[in-house]
Amino acid sequence: MQLKKIAGVLAGMSLLAVGASAAELSNAQIYSKYCKKCHGANGEGNPAKKGPALNDKDINELFDALMNLKEKGFEASKHEAMTHNMEVLERKKGIHVDPQSMAKYLFYSFNPEAK
Ligand code: HEC
Repeated sequence: MQLKKIAGVLAGMSLLAVGASAAELSNAQIYSKYCKKCHGANGEGNPAKKGPALNDKDINELFDALMNLKEKGFEASKHEAMTHNMEVLERKKGIHVDPQSMAKYLFYSFNPEAK
């Protein structure tokens, strides 16, 4: 009984620790962990997951899309899959996606026109 309690407290603490370090993931780490499966290793999109290509968007389009997703939360009906994703990432996992730096990362990593 006591032991279980202690184990529970410890598990809680390590969850907190994970939350804290997760918040400091780089855009590259966030992308490969949480975005790649739907948008492809090089932003080429993944039809199986209905994820559109991101490598053909310019930096402003990416920024606007990410900003909208963040601001509107569940009400952004046009991007339902993404809205849900962001909600889960931010509220449940404590991972903060910064629209500006993520847009930059996506553009300069994937868009051939950026090179
Ligand atoms: C479960 C699959 C999935 C994951 C994971 C996912 N996306 Fe998406 N994303 C989509 C879909 C589907 C759309 C198209 C709009 C919609 O239906 O939500 C989209 C749209 C977008 C758009 C807008 C593109 C446009 O056409 O304007 C951006 C930018 C984007 N996602 C970035 C990201 C980033 C950054 C991550 C990781 C933090 C991510 N996505 C994770 C599925 C996903």
